[in-house]
Amino acid sequence: MSCNTFLTAYRGGVTDPGIAARLRAAGCVFAEEEASLLLERSGGDPDVLEEGVARREAGEPLEYILGRVDFDGGRVGIDPGVFIPRRRTGLLVDVVAGHVAGSRLGRTPVVVDLACGSGAIGLAVARRVRGIELHATDVDEAAVACAARNVAEVGGHVHLGNMYDPLPGELRGRVDAIAANMPYVPRERLDYMPTDSRRFEPVWTVDGGQDGLDLVRAAAAGAGEWLAPGGILVVETGDERTGQPREAVAAFEAAGLLADVRWDEEMEATAVVGRS
Ligand SMILES: C[S@@+](CC[C@H](N)C(=O)[O-])C[C@H]1O[C@@H](n2cnc3c(N)ncnc32)[C@H](O)[C@@H]1O
Repeated sequence: MSCNTFLTAYRGGVTDPGIAARLRAAGCVFAEEEASLLLERSGGDPDVLEEGVARREAGEPLEYILGRVDFDGGRVGIDPGVFIPRRRTGLLVDVVAGHVAGSRLGRTPVVVDLACGSGAIGLAVARRVRGIELHATDVDEAAVACAARNVAEVGGHVHLGNMYDPLPGELRGRVDAIAANMPYVPRERLDYMPTDSRRFEPVWTVDGGQDGLDLVRAAAAGAGEWLAPGGILVVETGDERTGQPREAVAAFEAAGLLADVRWDEEMEATAVVGRS
């Protein structure tokens, strides 16, 4: 059982040695912390506690059991079956928030969170830069329902459908930034994903096709129609050893975008940024 991003925000609390021992036996490294969070979730109801511990012992990610995840310093609701936002995706938030906060547009900036999952990226950008117009899309109904709850806080709009298809037509040529954390795991690497991801996150949230970049290429090919002059598309990729950043830059350039690669050592994150 792998441990999760949620615990980066753990600040201590009440633990139960019996519960912690069960979680440790199930392979959880941060057993005390998880026991404390599951106790807190139970509100003192032993049946709820037992249900949560049993799910965790069975390997279910803690985020699904708690129904929330910490991302970019804020809390995001998460439903089972929806991709759990990873800390490294904070790099996309940095790039998009920096772009829209820094550009003196003289109008409300428009941001699209393409393939939004829980909507974590768009929500984080909107929490950092107040007053943006946010649109999020995903092909998966569970993701769209989860994102709709999350981005309601910032007045965001969520649309169900493939890639750019469900975006309102009036956004054509008006989008200042598109954040697209598309699935980018090469198909032959799917079997090497951590066990809890393989068992609990649907394959369409991670499967990027043969070299992992099928949907990144589609995001690049479609971006020009939606971006405002000077607008940006930002995608996450594997690091340079995977060859993905170089391939993604080529796809961006083929789509007429000026591309460069960003790397954040602390987040161990790689992003490709294209400007229209
Ligand atoms: C790696 S997850 C990222 C989710 C979210 N952006 C995040 O960073 O937490 C990829 C998302 O792409 C969505 N997706 C896969 N294929 C898609 C498509 N053709 N059009 C739109 N969304 C798609 C999946 O449902 C999933 O929510």
